[in-house]
Order: sequence, then structure tokens, then C-alpha cells
Amino acid sequence: MTGYPDSEDQSVAVDDSVRQRLALALDVDDLVQAHRLAVALRPWFGVAKVGLELFSSDGPDAIGALRDLGYSVFLDLKLFDIPTTVNRSTKVLGSLGVEYLTLHALGGPDMLKAGVEGLAEGADRAGLPQPTSLAVTVLTSDDTAPPHIVPNRVRVALEGGCGGIVLAASDLQTARELAPRLKRVVPGIRLAGEAKHDQARAATPQEAVANGADLLVIGRAVTKAEDPLAAAAAIAAAV
Ligand code: C5P
Repeated sequence: MTGYPDSEDQSVAVDDSVRQRLALALDVDDLVQAHRLAVALRPWFGVAKVGLELFSSDGPDAIGALRDLGYSVFLDLKLFDIPTTVNRSTKVLGSLGVEYLTLHALGGPDMLKAGVEGLAEGADRAGLPQPTSLAVTVLTSDDTAPPHIVPNRVRVALEGGCGGIVLAASDLQTARELAPRLKRVVPGIRLAGEAKHDQARAATPQEAVANGADLLVIGRAVTKAEDPLAAAAAIAAAV
């Protein structure tokens, strides 16, 4: 993405309670581009999501750079491996200063527990605040999962000791009923009438918030919009 106007010049800042509910998905493969997006969209977003693409290209440096900009960092690696490996890697990730980390609920309660403990220990050893482990239930691109899968994965998240779950807006009610204390993180957000890309179970920000989403993950709805700053402002207004 190039050619962002300097949003710092505009009197656009929204309340911090709104910014902390909006996570900007920095799905790009270099830190210069991620940094540019992060600076331009800072008035509306308080959380920056580093996914597989950016972590593959820039690793821990990406986390440090976004923290330096004042963002809470959401590391979306959707970890899924044997418990020992997950425990060892989450200890490292916990020491980097991430606020959220995703693990795949498909890994089961023992794997999640290993990740939750590793993340907490890593943060503790580095003298950092406790991060939140998020269990990914079913990808929002997948509309083929049988109906029992989401409730099962929500239970696995609870048993594994996670602080939250990642789920499609259409699964929010199920999650609220089964696990009201888990933080609900919802990707696949699109403004009404906009392209859905590969998100089979997309929702508008209004729908997600009305159904109990705590944190909205916003990617292409802003980064690929004709006017990214206007799209960000419209989403923030809906929250
Ligand atoms: O561009 P878009 O808003 O569709 O991006 C969604 C982001 O949320 C991507 O970074 C994707 O990896 C992530 N995500 C998702 N579905 C999940 C978990 C994470 O789309 N269940």
C-alpha cells in the first residue's frame, strides 16, 4: 500500500476504548509497509495484528516496532504442534511483549494448556504484563464445519485455560452461552455491500458488536479500501 495521507494531521482520534476494540491486520510481507499502514491508521486502531506473513518476513522486529508506535500487539500464529514444542515457543513469544497470541483449538486442551503456561512464563520472566491466549475455533473462511465443532472447540478453549477465542460473528451467540467469560475476537469484518474476498462468514462491524464481539479484526475492509482512512473511520463509528 502506498500513498497514505498523513492521518496524524487530521483531528480524527477516536476514544481509546474504541481503539482497543479494533485490531488492524497487517497482512503484508515487509516491515516498512506494515509501519506505514500502522502509522496512518493509528487514530482508529489500538491493536496491531502480526500474522504469518509479517512474522515470516520480520519476526520479533515487527513486534518491537509496533510496540514502539504504541500498539498492543496481537500475534496471530495459530500454533498447532505437540505440547512440548508449543510450550517452548510460547515461552519465547511471551518474552517479546505480545498482548494476544493465537493457538489452534484443534490442538486439544493439553496443547492449549502448554501454550497458556508457556506464554505466561515467558512474559513473567521478562517482567511484562500477562498476555491473553486466544484459541482459534473455526476459520472464518470455512463454512463447511459441522455444527458441533464450534461448541466443542469453545469447551476445549475453556479446558485449556485460554483467555479468549477467535470465532466468526455467526458463532458469537453459541460462545456467549457456553463461555461468557472468554474474550470474543471476531475476524471477517466487512462494511455493508463491500467485497468479502475469501471470508465465507463475514459480518458488518455493527452485527459483530451487537452480537457480543469484544475485539474486531479488520484487514482488507480497510487496507484494500479505496479510501482506507474513511473506511477505518466508518468502522470505528460503528463500534
Ligand atoms: O482481510 P481480512 O479482514 O479478511 O483479514 C482477516 C484476518 O484475520 C487475516 O489476518 C486472517 O488470518 C485472520 N483470521 C481469520 N479467521 C480466523 C482467524 C484469523 O480471518 N478464524
